[in-house]
Amino acid sequence: MKVVVSIGGSVLAPDLDADRVAGYADALGQLDAAGHEVGVVTGGGTVAREYIEAARELDANEMELDHVGIAVTRLNARLLIAALGERAAPEPSETYEEGREALRRGDVPVLGGTVAGQTTDAVSAAFAEYVNADLLIYATSVPGVFDADPDVDADATRFETLAVSDLVDVIAGIEMNAGSNAPVDLLAAKLIERSGIRAIVLDGADPQRVFEAVADDAHDGTEIVPDGKV
Ligand code: UTP
Repeated sequence: MKVVVSIGGSVLAPDLDADRVAGYADALGQLDAAGHEVGVVTGGGTVAREYIEAARELDANEMELDHVGIAVTRLNARLLIAALGERAAPEPSETYEEGREALRRGDVPVLGGTVAGQTTDAVSAAFAEYVNADLLIYATSVPGVFDADPDVDADATRFETLAVSDLVDVIAGIEMNAGSNAPVDLLAAKLIERSGIRAIVLDGADPQRVFEAVADDAHDGTEIVPDGKV
């Protein structure tokens, strides 16, 4: 199976913990060894937010702040590349084309951000579309997509499966509430919708969950399916 794994920065490197990065490299390496084609996108997490905050105080404009964020996502990509060793493309792929070429060579490409004005959620969906991936996994800091904010509403329930057009509606609702954090952003949801790709949003705290979702088709997250297939 060809799979793109999106690892949120807050999942891969909430703090600088080499063991956590090694755990992810291990799970991805197991997928690679089992014959799956794997592409990875890393987010920026807390470190990106701190850098962006500092740059904002220094009066950087939004585009400049995005470039700061992209630099941190690529720094996280380098950490994962170090942990993956020989199997990884040696440099973070800065474009989708570079990533696809690495995948065709049989390497594991690791991308961070690509262009300003988006997040790595959208990078992951665009890359999955570009390489015709069978599956896109979002390893996030939340255990799936909920019908309300689980941090605020004790009755919030997790969707086990969700039609992609419903995902777009849920995310649009969340993004209208200032301060709320959507499990994937709206641009990513729209890209998933147009490409018809199968996607899973799951709790990425334990990297083995990513391995099981691909290798055993077993997970406790939310599965996003094309409309009409729920
Ligand atoms: P992230 O993808 O990590 O943002 O990119 P996020 O979703 O807010 O954070 P986590 O990791 O899921 O917690 C960090 C920042 O980098 C810039 C944006 O400013 C983004 O907020 N970025 C990232 C881009 O401008 N373009 C990209 O393609 C990716």
